[in-house]
Amino acid sequence: MILDERIQKIPYGGDYNPEQWPEEIWEEDMRLFHKAGIDIVTLNVFSWAALQPSENVYDFEKLDKIMDLVEKNELKVCMATSTAAHPAWMAKRYPDILRVEYDGTKRKFGSRHNSCPNSPTYQKYSVRLAGKLAERYGKRKNIVAWHVSNEYMGECYCENCEKAFRVWLKDRYGTLDELNRVWNTSFWGHTFYDWDEVVLPDLRSEHFWGERTNFQGISLDYRRFNSESIQRCFETEAAEIRKYVPDAKITTNFMGTYKPIDYKKWAKSMDFVSWDNYPENKSPWSWTALVHDLMRSLKGGMPFALMEQTPSVSNWLSACSLKRPGVMRLWSYQAVAHGADTVMFFQMRRSIGACEKFHGAVIDHVGTENTRVFREVAALGAELNELGSHTLGGRCHSKVAVYFDWEIWWALEYSAGPNANFKYPDEVFLYYRALAEQNYAVDFVCEEDDLDGYEVLIAPAFYMTKTGYDEKIRAFVKRGGTFVTTFFSGIVDEHDLVITGGYPGRLRDILGIWVEEIDALPPEEHNQISYEGIEYPAGLLCDILHPEGAEVLSTYETDFYAGFPALTVNHFGEGKAYYVATRLPEEFYHIFLRERMEEKGIAPVLEREAVSFPGGAGSRSSIEATERFADGKSILYVLNHGSEEAQITLSSDRKDLLHDCVLKKGEQIRLESKGVLILESAD
Ligand code: GLA
Ligand code: ZN
Repeated sequence: MILDERIQKIPYGGDYNPEQWPEEIWEEDMRLFHKAGIDIVTLNVFSWAALQPSENVYDFEKLDKIMDLVEKNELKVCMATSTAAHPAWMAKRYPDILRVEYDGTKRKFGSRHNSCPNSPTYQKYSVRLAGKLAERYGKRKNIVAWHVSNEYMGECYCENCEKAFRVWLKDRYGTLDELNRVWNTSFWGHTFYDWDEVVLPDLRSEHFWGERTNFQGISLDYRRFNSESIQRCFETEAAEIRKYVPDAKITTNFMGTYKPIDYKKWAKSMDFVSWDNYPENKSPWSWTALVHDLMRSLKGGMPFALMEQTPSVSNWLSACSLKRPGVMRLWSYQAVAHGADTVMFFQMRRSIGACEKFHGAVIDHVGTENTRVFREVAALGAELNELGSHTLGGRCHSKVAVYFDWEIWWALEYSAGPNANFKYPDEVFLYYRALAEQNYAVDFVCEEDDLDGYEVLIAPAFYMTKTGYDEKIRAFVKRGGTFVTTFFSGIVDEHDLVITGGYPGRLRDILGIWVEEIDALPPEEHNQISYEGIEYPAGLLCDILHPEGAEVLSTYETDFYAGFPALTVNHFGEGKAYYVATRLPEEFYHIFLRERMEEKGIAPVLEREAVSFPGGAGSRSSIEATERFADGKSILYVLNHGSEEAQITLSSDRKDLLHDCVLKKGEQIRLESKGVLILESAD
């Protein structure tokens, strides 16, 4: 259980900001929460200025009242520490707390996520506040989780950070000789003779163009340093909370594929992962599924918390479209289907001023329960009450691992060349999507994760092979695993230094190939390949390679490298290593990966034939299916993201948990558009 052991159902609720409202309406909030089946509130997310009105004065009177109110109303609390936005007086008195932007601009007070992680002022007062909150409220039984800060983000380029960066580098590299080596500073005469000569790689220093940098090694280390600096802020607050509440369950809310922060490294410091899910209406469901799986995989598959989602609309899109009827429910269950053990919203009551006044909330400006959104929230609340504890703690099992690494993402997109349209998450998504749309279960792994339970390892755009990781892949393939990797892999080491002696470097023997050149294609240009009798345009990058033992499965058909391999497989030990040398259309990945699954005897969660569309229209790839396992039972989730009614044929007896009935093997079940089935294995 990620939260309190006593929890017997999926906690349902979210961010509640009563301090922004007159006390007269608090009781009305309580009435509406009960009506909506809400049983958990995240409190105190942005209250620092109220709790510490001046340097030596703390005022908890209002928060005491709020805590009493929610306790009396039997609401559980996710207790935030308020440190994502510092008070104005603090910025005025201690300007070191204000960040400096990439372009060198010193910020003034305002906005949020505005504190420098290396500011002594921020460190002192944020930790002190966390401690005071833990000391004061830590004994309250209804606090089921601690929520440090909020959506940590951004970077700082101030002088404090610069000084701290030099210390960080000294710790990491020991000597200037080593620093000069790993940064390859003999290029452009960058040799450093004193640690103080090192500056942060901002716009005034190493900026190249776009997001690119002149010195990838420096910028990559700055990213690591910045992510770790912010992580330390989380850790020191968490440690302070633990002084008073040793068994506290502590988290902070992640933002999915948020680039500047290495969530994989962070997850180790957290008791459980939580994240905020804000897809756009047009986002493919498989993208959201990817992020859920990634977030679950950060902590070895442990269930996570859906900390925020909007009940209806987000305020920060250029066109803030409403979630259509049924979609909030569908996406809530999608999170659960991938391992979420909470369903929570931002926010409970819609604010009246500032930039989130048009962000959706459970209680709208009208202030009553007579809204479509409230009715949908209340209906889901009632359903979750009925569902009870069945799904809690369930784990997902997968034989397929996809490699995802923030450091590869940073390094690859910092690189000048070979193609500015080359984006790491896009490549990962192509592979993930083909698997998800065919209902294969997927986990994500990174360098430290064990590969033992997996049969297939897919590492798209595996640009960086860190020292020793090739050994892990070698052992995996030797014992019979299938390894799939792509163009532009194995190029550099962990310092972004090219591994010489032929691409793909340390992977060359495993893949049985040598990549001699890499051709980048602009979006309008294509080469062509054929595979299994189908022709595909090939774009983005085309690796020109020579087999060194690998079997050629497909070749380029045009240009000066016509006839060169575009797809290869190498038999290595008991296993196989595939190399996809170019970017191909979605349909290719569907076929290619299905073959790899069948080759390894890996079955999808739901067979292709189990789904039909009585109306004739309808797309198989709009049906999502996942499985979680708890207490010796399997729970199958089937979600219809399409606009047509589907029909599902069961391959075993199942108990329908949302409709409380038993279904027999072979039975055909209706699944309406946006509908959800949660089916427990019957004994
Ligand atoms: C984030 C934040 C919330 C709120 C929402 C609005 O997720 O954590 O405080 O700003 O965005 O979408
Ligand atoms: Zn700073």
